[in-house]
Amino acid sequence: MSELKTNVLYYGDNLNILREHIPDESIDLIYLDPPFNSKRSYNVLFRESSGAASEAQIEAFEDTWHWVPGGAAPQAYDEVVRGPHQKVARMLRAMVEGLGHNDVTAYLCMMAVRLVELHRVLKPTGSIYLHCDPTAGHYLKIIMDSVFRPKNFRNEVVWSYKRWTRERSYLPRFHDTLFFYTKGSMYNFNMPLIPYTDPNPSQYQSAKDATGKTIIARDIEGRPIKRKVAKEIPVGDVWVLPIISPRSKERLRYATQKPLVLLERIINTSSNPGDVVLDPFCGCGTAVHAAHKLDRRWIGMDITYLAINLIERRMRDAFDDIAIEVIGEPKDLASAHDLAKRDKWQFQWWALAKIDAQPVAGKKKGADRGIDGVIPFFAGPTEDYKRAIVSVKGGEHVGVAVIRDLVGVIDREKEPIGILLTLEKPTQPMITEAASAGFYESEFWGRKFPRIQILTIEEMFKGTRPELPWGKSPFAKAPKEPNPSKQLPLV
Ligand SMILES: C[S@@+](CC[C@H](N)C(=O)[O-])C[C@H]1O[C@@H](n2cnc3c(N)ncnc32)[C@H](O)[C@@H]1O
Repeated sequence: MSELKTNVLYYGDNLNILREHIPDESIDLIYLDPPFNSKRSYNVLFRESSGAASEAQIEAFEDTWHWVPGGAAPQAYDEVVRGPHQKVARMLRAMVEGLGHNDVTAYLCMMAVRLVELHRVLKPTGSIYLHCDPTAGHYLKIIMDSVFRPKNFRNEVVWSYKRWTRERSYLPRFHDTLFFYTKGSMYNFNMPLIPYTDPNPSQYQSAKDATGKTIIARDIEGRPIKRKVAKEIPVGDVWVLPIISPRSKERLRYATQKPLVLLERIINTSSNPGDVVLDPFCGCGTAVHAAHKLDRRWIGMDITYLAINLIERRMRDAFDDIAIEVIGEPKDLASAHDLAKRDKWQFQWWALAKIDAQPVAGKKKGADRGIDGVIPFFAGPTEDYKRAIVSVKGGEHVGVAVIRDLVGVIDREKEPIGILLTLEKPTQPMITEAASAGFYESEFWGRKFPRIQILTIEEMFKGTRPELPWGKSPFAKAPKEPNPSKQLPLV
């Protein structure tokens, strides 16, 4: 196994990444907010070029698990049951026997096998916070007990918030639960304190006289004695912290984004500057953002490229001169071919992200009438924003028909520019056909741009980008943070 790298994002399945890249007892704090088996699709929304929220939603991740013979769930079950952690194995076997082979047990197997790995990588002084909702939290706590031992359970933290709801058939759910465990009995802990509001605001000490009447206590010179009031008290296990409001600047439009204040509190409580924080299900990267802000080193992992791309942008927007490495994304033609072969959608989202295009097609939605992505650009004060339409071809044979189709799409959409982003090299007839489409002439920019542009992935790796007028990024921008006191080196 390689040495631990920090301030890195890993793109891929966290189980493989943990096994291949994270050494034993190397992590100080783990926060995980896994998908909840709530049968929701996690959508990423994009900003319209005008700045308004867009209808464009891409399904980044579907949190549904199924027990398919020979699939990932029975495989995870087998690994745990045959593995060295026999307490966890017995517990999982009992759950699967009791509940049967279904979506819930498929989910529990996928979590159990990962929690065993997370236990392995945690330092003896380390802590873990598992963020749950009511769907499977009660089962997860039993698995946590079997992996981390009941004696290492520290708290069930209730994150309490208010949100708008239409629900009238049961009590609206206004909290999430976080199970806080440590690996052992000696662990990093900084008691979180909150300002104390005195319920009895009188500033003087009082006492009762012989008749029971309250009198102000005085010193020997007759001056009233001031009360000693604690300025701060421990926060307790119910954390009242607001969710991210729809208008908040912090909002990146990742459906399951958690607020920074929540992660800052966890990180401050259970780690110290310089420690390593790991989030194996990092979504749009709230934990890694909070960790960097608080001078911790960090490792984030996510299985979808849409999330990895959002985090990279978020971190670069928030922190000046930040050094981030993304591991697992294609770095050369061979690995781009490999990704295209393994997963057409992830390849498409990766390629679009590299040229700052907003994806508009998703696994369920399919290509939007020949449009895989768009790049908004400013066409001038009288015309406002226009879009370059991007078509991505990953591995399949490309011919002149692809160019004719793209011309048809930009004509139909009344957009000025079409870009073909292709893994295969274009043929000579394709290049000729693209050239015959002519130019988009922008009076405002005072120049011409080819109407059809062909960009190969190989050229993209060398730094070539589409020729476009200036545009506004379709991705929500994270607010700037003051840089942490020192940028810790990549190790
Ligand atoms: C609930 S979201 C996390 C949200 C995050 N806490 C935030 O504030 O943005 C769960 C994430 O886990 C990712 N995920 C699901 N299965 C995964 C796996 N096996 N490996 C890595 N990431 C995974 C999903 O893509 C999704 O982004």
